[in-house]
Amino acid sequence: MKIAVSILVSNYSEEETILKINETDADYLHVDVTDGHFVPDKTPEREYLHLSHKPLNVHLMVSRPFSYISKYAAMKAETISISSEIEDDKLAILEYIKSLGVRCGMAIKPGTTVSMLEDYFDILDEIIVLTVEPGKGGQKMKEEVLEKVDELVRLRDEFGYKYTIMVDGGINDKNIVKASKADIVVVGSYICKSEDFQSQIDRLRL
Ligand code: DX5
Ligand code: ZN
Repeated sequence: MKIAVSILVSNYSEEETILKINETDADYLHVDVTDGHFVPDKTPEREYLHLSHKPLNVHLMVSRPFSYISKYAAMKAETISISSEIEDDKLAILEYIKSLGVRCGMAIKPGTTVSMLEDYFDILDEIIVLTVEPGKGGQKMKEEVLEKVDELVRLRDEFGYKYTIMVDGGINDKNIVKASKADIVVVGSYICKSEDFQSQIDRLRL
């Protein structure tokens, strides 16, 4: 299972956080972006993403993602994910992301069913199963949501879809075992609010 570190909440500055993540064996830097509309808070303009040695895994929690995509594609983001609950033409946005040579993903809130994604299974490179309400770090994992991972694994096995399955929100050393069927987990505060990022990651990998 791979680990993506979310920088949404940290005890350190953005620059220090990214440099600390570089020193670990984390697999991705998970960049949460919020617009203050799709979710109440608005993330600050990121200035230090170019310092990351880790591939960028961008999670757009924004109502109108089109205008954000070229910026992150220009930063060579490996994956850009949008939120399944937005009104915009999601297929057009996913196709645009792919046209830029970037993997495309879609996130579902705890209250959104897997069936809401069925029109996109063929194009999606990644599905983010949110185990917290989007927009804030440091929340408690909604463990009941994890049954969506089993459903997504079953569908992928049955129909040969290519998406990777990511679990995002509230993960720590105690509950990570419950997300073990996922391909990637996103971990924010458990790592970025600690003294030693690598020792937290080691605990997650046990
Ligand atoms: C929540 C974000 C998550 C969150 C993870 O909206 O998508 O990536 O920041 O942070 P923790 O691990 O603190 O829940
Ligand atoms: Zn996220």
